[in-house]
Parts: sequence; C-alpha cells; structure tokens
Amino acid sequence: MNINFQQGDPLKLETDCLLAGLFEGDEFSSGILVEAPHSLVDSLETLYSKGELTGKSGNSTLIHTLGNAVPLRIMFLGLGKRESMTESTIRDVLGSAVRKARGIRVTSIAVAVDTFSTKETDSNRVAEITTMASINGLYRYENHVSEKSETTVTEILLNMESAAESNVVSYTAIAEAVNLARDLSNTPPNHMTPTILSNIAKEKADENGIGFELIDEKAMKKFGMGSILGVAQGSSEPAYLIIMKYEGAKHSPDDSIALVGKGITFDSGGLSLKPPSGMMTMKGDMAGGAAVIAAITAISKLNLEINVYGIVAATENMPGGMAQRPGDVVTAMNGTTIEVLNTDAEGRLVLADALCYANHLGVSKIVDIATLTGAIRTALGDQIIGTFGNNDLFTKQVIQAGSEEGERLWELPADDSFTKNFKSEIADIKNIGGGGAGATIGAMVIGKFAGDTPWVHLDIAAVSRTNTVNGDMAKGATGIPVKTLVSLCKSLSK
Ligand code: BES
Ligand code: ZN
Ligand code: ZN
Repeated sequence: MNINFQQGDPLKLETDCLLAGLFEGDEFSSGILVEAPHSLVDSLETLYSKGELTGKSGNSTLIHTLGNAVPLRIMFLGLGKRESMTESTIRDVLGSAVRKARGIRVTSIAVAVDTFSTKETDSNRVAEITTMASINGLYRYENHVSEKSETTVTEILLNMESAAESNVVSYTAIAEAVNLARDLSNTPPNHMTPTILSNIAKEKADENGIGFELIDEKAMKKFGMGSILGVAQGSSEPAYLIIMKYEGAKHSPDDSIALVGKGITFDSGGLSLKPPSGMMTMKGDMAGGAAVIAAITAISKLNLEINVYGIVAATENMPGGMAQRPGDVVTAMNGTTIEVLNTDAEGRLVLADALCYANHLGVSKIVDIATLTGAIRTALGDQIIGTFGNNDLFTKQVIQAGSEEGERLWELPADDSFTKNFKSEIADIKNIGGGGAGATIGAMVIGKFAGDTPWVHLDIAAVSRTNTVNGDMAKGATGIPVKTLVSLCKSLSK
C-alpha cells in the first residue's frame, strides 16, 4: 500500500474515489465543496434535502462526479454528531469505506482528512487512523485459495494541510504488524506448526535486528520445564520456547518488559479431548504468540527506547500415545508441582514455564497474552480483553495503552481469595478450579509463576477471532492485542 500526501483542493485530486466525512447537522456545502462548481453543489444539495445524503452515523453515499470534479467518485461518509464522534467512529467508517471502494474495483483512494477532524481528533490523528483502518480494513487471507481476488486498493492519498509523514510510517508498521498477527493465526494448523512459527519468528528477528534464540525440548529438560514438556509430549511435533530480544534501551539493560504469548498451534484438548465443534477454530490458539511476534516487530520498526523480550511458548496440544493423562503431576521450572486434572487447560501450563523463564532473564515487567478460557466470553462478551494483574499501577497502564488505540480492556479480579479454588490434594496446585470464575482461576494459575514481578494477563480467547466483517476487522483472526502491546511499549519508553 502506498500512502502519500497531497495538499490543495480535494476536488482536483486525480483519484478513483474521494472519501469525505459528513457530520450530522453541519452546514452541508462546507468542507470539500467550498470551491466546487455550482452544478455539482446544487445536485448534491438536492440529494441532501431529500435525505439520501446525510451525516447520520453509518450512512455512506457514493456519488459519480461525471466530469463535475477530477475524482471519478466521491463517497460521503456519515460521522454522526460532531460532539459525539470518537476515534472508533472514524476507524469503523473508513475501514468499511475502503472495502466498499475495493468492491467496486477502485484502486486509488483519496481521503479529505480535514473533513474527519474535530477539536479532540486533529488531522494528524485522523491521518494515523486512516492509515491503520485502510491497511487493516482491506486485509484478507487467501493464501490457500486458487482464485485470488484480482483488484485491491494500492494507493491512499491523504489530502490535508500539513503532512504527518513520520506518524504515517509508524502507523503503517503497526497496521502491518496487526495483519501479520492475523496471517499467523489464520494459517491452517498443518501449515503453522511450532517449528514453522519459530522459523517465521526467526525471519522477522533477522529482518529487524532483533535477537533470537530457541529453547528446544532438550534445553527445556535442562531448565526443568516439566510443565510445558507435559503438554508437548502428546504431539509428534517438537515444542519450542521462542525468545526474541529487542534492545532499544541499551543504556538501562536492567529495565525490560517481557511479552509472553501462548503459542498452541493446535489445541485438540489433549486426552481431555474437545468436541469437534470446539476444535474447529483451535488453529488460532497461538494468537497470543502471534501478537507477541508481530508487536516486537513493530516495536523495533518504531525504534522505541525500551528493552523488550518476546517469549512464545509454542507447542501443539495433542492426544498422542505419549500424551499426559488427567491426574499426572508435573513440575515447573520454579519447582512448583501441578496436578493436571484437565489436559485442555494447557495454556496456563505452557505459560507457567514461560513466565519462570522471563523471571530467570530478570525482566522488570511481564505481560502475558493468551487465548486462555472460554469463560472470558461469558464474563465480557466478544469485544473486550479480559485483564488481570498483580500490580494496580501497571494494570491501569496496560488498560490505558489499549484504549489509546481503540482496544478495550477490562480488569477482573485475581486476588488471593481465589487461591483455595485451585489448591491440590496431592500437589502444590491443580490446573483447574471449581466453583466458577474460570477466567480468574486460569489467570491466577499463571500469576503464581510471575512471582513479585509486576504482571498483567490478557485473556483474548473471545476477541481473537470474529465471524463478522466490520470496520477495520476482517473475518477470522483479529490481530488483537498488537496495538495495545505497541502502545504500551510506547508509553513505557517515554
Ligand atoms: N484454547 C482454549 C480456550 C479457548 C476457548 C480459546 C474458545 C478460544 C476459544 C483453552 O486451552 C481451553 O480449552 N480452556 C478450557 C479451560 C477449562 C478446561 C478449565 C476452557 O475454557 O474450557
Ligand atoms: Zn485447551
Ligand atoms: Zn488452548
């Protein structure tokens, strides 16, 4: 995608389609029409007075200019009332608009940036959101279809007074990272094994000057990572702990954050086998790991002044002949023994050792990202990231970082009053609870391995995929929470 800037009269831009925002209740013939010929303004005003062309939120009206302006088409996009417009409105409206334009074979788009801006959201910010919404809104995954779509939008021209070049470069990197995370999670599980995921992580690391190391099963044994090994033993695919290291703050080597992702490339449930319907989307059980790989790639492209470890616990969860049994007891790297009563609660088991390893590296903060529990959907629905933590200040910082980029996070409890729910009779803890609060129990099992390090757990099980095309979302993997992770590292680096 080429994103360029051009100043001047938007009606003189050589483009297939000009996108212009329209606020409900604003004077109609302002904005892009100030210098328009009367013939065009008169016809548009007729449409406006007859109610086809309106600024109502969600309304979009496609006009063919037929020689009355240089753009072949103008798409007017309703933004609702000026006072109630938010950044999400722009993201949704533009994401849908670029897809609609692509649907009519438009390849070059111009955006009248200033028509979308308000007091709260200035033109530079609109340019950033436009960049992301178009790159993410146009995403589609067609690696395995023979007949690929022919046309797509290849150029976005940002029509605005001053050019915010560097912001657009940064937000292009972030949007591309979101699409990378989507690609990884959308890839079928026979094409996305732990080995393949590791290879891609290595590729991204090499391309961006990020350090890379693989901990294979032999090394896991040496470290005493019995918890991830227990999950891995049911699969014939080797497991890896993928370690990426971005050093953006070499002057303070002791200050670093670990982003730790669940990378189950397929979750069958293991011997606690899932029903067929529950297994169909389980190629996406590495969405947390995908987000980590993608986010650290963007963080390095943005040259953020921060040290970041990306750690991905990559394995399949399969019911092979060597699979762990419900009732097995495993020992994690920090010596904690875990009674595995349900092999389908494997995310917390692989993250247990991954968090121990993060602490072994001496990191100062940990965020783990995992498609951990079905229960989080019951608690928060399918739009909100379940958020848990052991340090109020840090948890708030993560939630704030998400909200800056339109990803919603909500904190749920993870305090010691729940510890009794996963106390085991025969080991230190068991990997499932009882008495509800499934997402909290999952979080708290992981939290046991964070120790005293400030830690936040993001349960993305309900938000990592979507069945509807909406705004900047395409069907399938969403790429959540790449934007939150990048935004967090940005805020920590300030
Ligand atoms: N990968 C699943 C969670 C999941 C469910 C992700 C639906 C995406 C969509 C996880 O490993 C799992 O199976 N969790 C169990 C835990 C239970 C056995 C305590 C669950 O949520 O049912
Ligand atoms: Zn599972
Ligand atoms: Zn899982």
